[in-house]
Amino acid sequence: MQRQILVTGGNSGIGLEMVRAFIKAGHEVMIAARDLGKTLGVIRVLEQEVPGARLHAVALDLADFDSIDAAARQILTTLTQLDTVMLNAGSYTNGLRTQDNGLESMIGSMHFGHFRLMEHLLPQLKVAAEARVVVTSSVAHWTGTIDEASFRDAARHRMDLRAYGQAKLANLIYARELARRTQGSNIRINAFHPGGVATGIWRELPPFAQKVVDKVMLTPAKGADTAIWLALSADAKAFNGEYFVKRKRAFSSRISRNREVAARLWQLSEEIAGL
Ligand SMILES: NC(=O)c1ccc[n+]([C@@H]2O[C@H](COP(=O)([O-])OP(=O)(O)OC[C@H]3O[C@@H](n4cnc5c(N)ncnc54)[C@H](OP(=O)(O)O)[C@@H]3O)[C@@H](O)[C@H]2O)c1
Repeated sequence: MQRQILVTGGNSGIGLEMVRAFIKAGHEVMIAARDLGKTLGVIRVLEQEVPGARLHAVALDLADFDSIDAAARQILTTLTQLDTVMLNAGSYTNGLRTQDNGLESMIGSMHFGHFRLMEHLLPQLKVAAEARVVVTSSVAHWTGTIDEASFRDAARHRMDLRAYGQAKLANLIYARELARRTQGSNIRINAFHPGGVATGIWRELPPFAQKVVDKVMLTPAKGADTAIWLALSADAKAFNGEYFVKRKRAFSSRISRNREVAARLWQLSEEIAGL
């Protein structure tokens, strides 16, 4: 079955390896990321690697609701049979930042931005014959809690790792809650941890730490493996609302499995980022 796949953050790192695997398998892919020039350059390279690849680019800034709404319109016009969404874009900032819309930048983009994007895309996924959503979470979710006050008050975190952990926890809670809310439908939603992967996400680390990262961490292709399996394999169809590491179901933190926390986060997400 040929798929139409959206990959957020598909112009580098783990997302780029997802894109590469998808076009090699003959699927049509749209890459969504902020830097359109970079995405178009990546597409030129991929088209040489895989002649005949069907690739599209869209500018998307998950920190900006107007950008999300415009990107969603372009995605749905281009991929009229969209059936697979990889919610992968993300960043780790050295220091806490606030987006123009007042949200702390890590949860603001990785969770609330993706939540809004999905509000646009879900109606299309619901009419696809078989739809899959794969969310890039992280083992860092174990360091996170959901602290509502911090959504608009970055300083509450004191450490950037806490903000990153909260955002990756929110990604995982979202995957589980969306799976519950669409249970019995044609959509399968799962989350995964890619491993520690040598990518641009570590760009704000000091140079000596970046050298260590390059030596000890996985290649982006290895980091993308579980996501590609979740998106394409017949075996993965059996799973919904689960968290995976190395293609295996994995244990996740207690709070990531708490249904009251999930319901509250969903309600807040609708208030903050709903359409
Ligand atoms: N690397 C690891 O060890 C590791 C471990 C666990 C989880 N992860 C997760 O893996 C995912 C991919 O990260 P990576 O390691 O592959 O890093 P990366 O190479 O830096 O890729 C991040 C991607 O996200 C895009 N992006 C960042 N902020 C964005 C925004 N506001 N709006 C839209 N796109 C945005 C970037 O493109 P533009 O700059 O053009 O927007 C880029 O394509 C992230 O969710 C990260 O949290 C990574």
